[in-house]
Amino acid sequence: MAAATTDVVNLILDDHRRFEALFAELRDTTSDRAAVRAELADLLVAHAEAEEEAVYPQLEAKNASTKHDVAHGEREHSQGNAALLVLLEVEDSSSDEFEDALEALFEAITHHVNEEELTLLNDARTSLRARDRATIGGAFAAARKRRLKGHPGAVEHVREIQNRAGLGKLDTASLRFLAAARDIEGRSTMTKQQLLQTLAG
Ligand SMILES: [Fe+2]
Ligand SMILES: [Fe+2]
Repeated sequence: MAAATTDVVNLILDDHRRFEALFAELRDTTSDRAAVRAELADLLVAHAEAEEEAVYPQLEAKNASTKHDVAHGEREHSQGNAALLVLLEVEDSSSDEFEDALEALFEAITHHVNEEELTLLNDARTSLRARDRATIGGAFAAARKRRLKGHPGAVEHVREIQNRAGLGKLDTASLRFLAAARDIEGRSTMTKQQLLQTLAG
């Protein structure tokens, strides 16, 4: 059955409100924090990756948003992943460490959601036709659904995303140097993308 709406703005807002509800559950010491943390992690990663795949490039291509705002959003996703990784690595969900990591993640995500709604989503509301918002919404929903199937918030996956984000700042020669240090075979003929994938794996 088709979704009631595929307007990308509404779909993104629905996820943002779901993040807030899950954060409230995580603050509750009587909830199943490990299960809620896993659900939030999957949703945060799938949502951000689907935005980067299906929404942000379209906003830029249709001149609805600036390159600067899109790059800023992507940087904040990366900061969110870094904070998420810290929370995922806490073993005892009743510890102070868990609550400190939860607070840091909440701050990172709240900041990003606030800015995204004020900038990119208002750009979409004011500069895109309803038909385009629906088309982009359909692509966003499909990308998000595909990712959710793969349990994207698993700690190993979030660590890999973080490694790749850090490595992504290096040039090819530096990546090859790192590959040599790890004695990775075939490094001399690898492209930058292949080096990134091998080193992050
Ligand atoms: Fe978002
Ligand atoms: Fe976002």
